[in-house]
Amino acid sequence: MISFTLNGQPVSVEVEEDMPLLWLLRDELKMTGTKFGCGVASCGACTVHIDGVASRACQTWAADVEGAEVTTIEGADSKAAAAIQQAWVELQVPQCGYCQSGQVMSASALLSETPKPTDDDIDIAMEGNLCRCATYARIRKAIHRAAEIMEA
Ligand code: FES
Ligand code: FES
Repeated sequence: MISFTLNGQPVSVEVEEDMPLLWLLRDELKMTGTKFGCGVASCGACTVHIDGVASRACQTWAADVEGAEVTTIEGADSKAAAAIQQAWVELQVPQCGYCQSGQVMSASALLSETPKPTDDDIDIAMEGNLCRCATYARIRKAIHRAAEIMEA
């Protein structure tokens, strides 16, 4: 039995300790906003927050989140996450959208830590989040816009 907090609610699930968190979220808890891309921590599509840190759910095991606070895109309502989502809509960042929940989770973790990120901060924080539609320029602009929204 693995017990943790998911989007502010306590959850307990009977799963193998070495089940990837991604499958625990998607298959056991039906939280399908977190996407499967590569399965080997190389694309960022599965990014969630574990105790506030952007983490790849495909390479995190169920046992790793025992007692932790996990946030998925469905529960991303922090000040930073709200600003990111507002900026994403304003600048119409997504194309196909597949990578975008992971992008939003990485970007909001960045803004929570670094409210006024430089281009370099953004590039470093976002380099593990791939986008096959190449929305990178809009993502960078939107993170700067979200920083303004947070400051207002
Ligand atoms: S599915 Fe986890 S990083 Fe690609
Ligand atoms: S918006 Fe299509 S993969 Fe990023």
